Amino acid sequence: MPAAPVIDFMREGDVADVASIDEATRMNEDQLRTELARTWARTWVAREGTDVVGYLLTWHVADELHVMNVATRADRRRRGVARALLDEAVAYARDRKVKHVLLEVRRSNAAAIALYRAFGFFAMGVRARYYPDDEDAVEMVLLFDPATGKTVEHEDEVKLGSPVDSPPEAPGPNSSAAAKR
Ligand SMILES: CC(C)(COP(=O)(O)OP(=O)(O)OC[C@H]1O[C@@H](n2cnc3c(N)ncnc32)[C@H](O)[C@@H]1OP(=O)(O)O)[C@@H](O)C(=O)NCCC(=O)NCCS
Repeated sequence: MPAAPVIDFMREGDVADVASIDEATRMNEDQLRTELARTWARTWVAREGTDVVGYLLTWHVADELHVMNVATRADRRRRGVARALLDEAVAYARDRKVKHVLLEVRRSNAAAIALYRAFGFFAMGVRARYYPDDEDAVEMVLLFDPATGKTVEHEDEVKLGSPVDSPPEAPGPNSSAAAKR
């Protein structure tokens, strides 16, 4: 069993490693530096020794934490890296009395949806043709009980197994390629 990764805030020196983690994230070094400079961005990396093996980018705005991207290096998957990163973000959210954690994920991204479900996220809606290739985004939410800080169990509000009719919506935040996963 590999040792648990060490979770740390991302620093400038991590940019090149993070950019190489997952080509599919489409975040290049400039985009990552832009994120690091945003006062509302919170970005963590997972380290195994000197290797950066995963990262998690969020935006903390008012009482909401928005997961913009999470990725684990392809050769280090299914070893708890993303779970450790999300544990850190959820603890951060709870400490700061965040009401909910939100994200969008491709409908076909079974690995990520399973990861989020393992934390108690539920499907709140579907944004039809959200991604540039017209794939739908599933909107998922993790709710905290304001009194106890515990996560609230919640049934899906949309069915994911079949196409969902939802009205066309305004495009998502194109300013960040990270959101368009
Ligand atoms: C999704 C992703 C981040 C998961 O990272 P990971 O480090 O492999 O995930 P973990 O090992 O921490 O998995 C935690 C749990 O998530 C679920 N999970 C993760 N990958 C899964 C997969 N391929 N199939 C099914 N369940 C999966 C499981 O419940 C897993 O727990 P288990 O291993 O005890 O069964 C990784 O596959 C990835 O980087 N994908 C490409 C980028 C991406 O799609 N990001 C999501 C953007 S919204």
